[in-house]
Amino acid sequence: MSEPVIKCENVYKIFGTNAQKMLQESNGNVDAKTFQENGCIVGVNNASFEVSKGEMLVVMGLSGSGKSTLLRCISRLTDATGGKIFIEGQDLLQLNNKDLIDLRRNKMGMVFQSFALLPHKTVVENIAFPLQIKGVKTEDSISKAMDMVKLVGLDGRENYFPRELSGGQQQRVGIARSLAVEPDIWFLDEPFSALDPLIRKEMQDEFLRLQDKLQKTIMFITHDFDEALKLADRIAIMKDGIIEQLDTPANIVLNPATEYVRKFTEEVPREKVLLIKDVMEMSKNNLGDLKVSKDEIIENVAEKILTQEKPVAVIDKNNEIIGSINPIKIINTVFGGRKKNN
Ligand SMILES: Nc1ncnc2c1ncn2[C@@H]1O[C@H](COP(=O)(O)OP(=O)(O)OP(=O)(O)O)[C@@H](O)[C@H]1O
Ligand SMILES: [Mg+2]
Repeated sequence: MSEPVIKCENVYKIFGTNAQKMLQESNGNVDAKTFQENGCIVGVNNASFEVSKGEMLVVMGLSGSGKSTLLRCISRLTDATGGKIFIEGQDLLQLNNKDLIDLRRNKMGMVFQSFALLPHKTVVENIAFPLQIKGVKTEDSISKAMDMVKLVGLDGRENYFPRELSGGQQQRVGIARSLAVEPDIWFLDEPFSALDPLIRKEMQDEFLRLQDKLQKTIMFITHDFDEALKLADRIAIMKDGIIEQLDTPANIVLNPATEYVRKFTEEVPREKVLLIKDVMEMSKNNLGDLKVSKDEIIENVAEKILTQEKPVAVIDKNNEIIGSINPIKIINTVFGGRKKNN
């Protein structure tokens, strides 16, 4: 396997004057409560994971669970208190200022929870600004910025100032601005949360379309589990600074590692998340005529399967039968494993 683009090893971020000292004395066993009693706030607690090239890792968790702090450590907007972070094999904490600026300018893109637009520049100037910093000619940068304006659906507003835009529109400027530089690694902190549902859905679809084409390495924060399921290759669920589980959407829904994770997944319509291959059986006996692909989302084929009496054949890309699915299994998947109070 190729080297991960992002690699975190036992990363801690602790706020407070004694943070460093307390972390050292704790030997890595950080208890948030004890730390708090001693005037320290635990932001990120012992995070270790990798993100590979072209992968989208979605970070979820309640407010205050450490999502933004984790992202800020990896983009080195703040320095981790302990642990190691590697970007394409380079030790992030060893970089000098110049290399760090270079890395941010040319490799990393960020969309922040707060929009951080320049108030005295117009929409198109805001979007063109990072390109100009990189040394792109004004004319070219404006033309590229205009493409981005169209992409995020703000044509006609390119000469407005941020204060003349709604929150959702400002956020779209932020997204366009970070897209314009075509970063390899993209950090997005709740980029769609200020958008109304219809535009949000459009932006998600557009985002998936772009990602399909551009194959960026992405860390994406959201509060919205449906959004996570729609976008993620893998999901990390955080609680009190700790990554409770990091896994594929299907595994998180099927095998929640902790009670906290289970609570998140409780209301999730399983048929929207799970694929046929996630619930199929290996048996190939007594199959009926119907065949379904192992990569179908259950929701898309459930109706067809439920009309069958015999087990349905599951096929791979080469139309080879690799297993089966029993209609009863579809019923269990769709109706089982949810709240039992109705
Ligand atoms: N600069 C700071 N100084 C002190 N404590 C901080 C600082 N930044 C964050 N924290 C604390 O670290 C914890 C994690 O905050 P963080 O902003 O990462 O949460 P989050 O998961 O992004 O929440 P939200 O969903 O509300 O954005 C919180 O308890 C927060 O109060
Ligand atoms: Mg946050």
